[in-house]
Amino acid sequence: MDRRAIGVFDSGMGGLTTVRELERRLPGEDIVYFGDTGRVPYGGRSPETILRYARQDVAFLRTFDLKAIVIACGTVSTIALERLAQECPMPVIGVVEPAARAAAQVTKSGKVGLIGTKATIASGAYERILKALRPDTEVVARACPLFVPLVENGRFRKGDPLVELVVSEYLEPFKTAGVDTMILGCTHYPLLSDAIGQYMGADVRLISSGAACVETVAQVLEEKGLNTDHTGIGSRRYFASDSPESFEELASIFLGEDIHHQAVQIAIETY
Ligand code: DGL
Repeated sequence: MDRRAIGVFDSGMGGLTTVRELERRLPGEDIVYFGDTGRVPYGGRSPETILRYARQDVAFLRTFDLKAIVIACGTVSTIALERLAQECPMPVIGVVEPAARAAAQVTKSGKVGLIGTKATIASGAYERILKALRPDTEVVARACPLFVPLVENGRFRKGDPLVELVVSEYLEPFKTAGVDTMILGCTHYPLLSDAIGQYMGADVRLISSGAACVETVAQVLEEKGLNTDHTGIGSRRYFASDSPESFEELASIFLGEDIHHQAVQIAIETY
């Protein structure tokens, strides 16, 4: 049993989709969340910059006494998971492998769609894992760079004409290809899942990378005896590298609970 917190980070607000799932699956765990809202998006940056940012994010989180770190960011998971895991004494869990596993399990036709940031798609990380798990998988992949700024600006709802326009432009090739499963390879994208689901149709299974990793977190805690014995709801602490008010505003919508006056701004460049 271990009452230390789990550290969770993302380039911005997208990792809150993972926090939401963690709250459901492991309600008693304490969570420290950092969103690098001052430097989002990461997805169009070079691997070197993404690694540097990710190291700073982890260095900040490690100022807390943590038992595990969750990289609730597809981009950082594809580029930096191995390095960060080598550099940290605690388990570091990313979103790529759990999401690829979930997709390999649910696809019937073997035709899997993958959407993510430019860095994620360019890395080929999802394809490598999918092919290793199921060699006959055919992956149709596309970067969707406008999705993260849309979500960060609160434009993610079904029925929003801008959202629907961008969704239809990006996803048209997946419809044409006839994928039966779609990996939302960026943790921001589940916020668009109503619009994406409506466009792709009910027969296409959407895999949320952030949600898929929560099962892995639960397994790792169990295996290593790191679960909390706290029976109530765990504590939440939120940090951002830009305006805490803007973070609280959007995070309250994303999490479905009021977190006003709870976020703290930090100077991430100093870590
Ligand atoms: N949520 C991040 C991801 O999963 C967003 C990346 C970005 O900042 O571009 O990839």
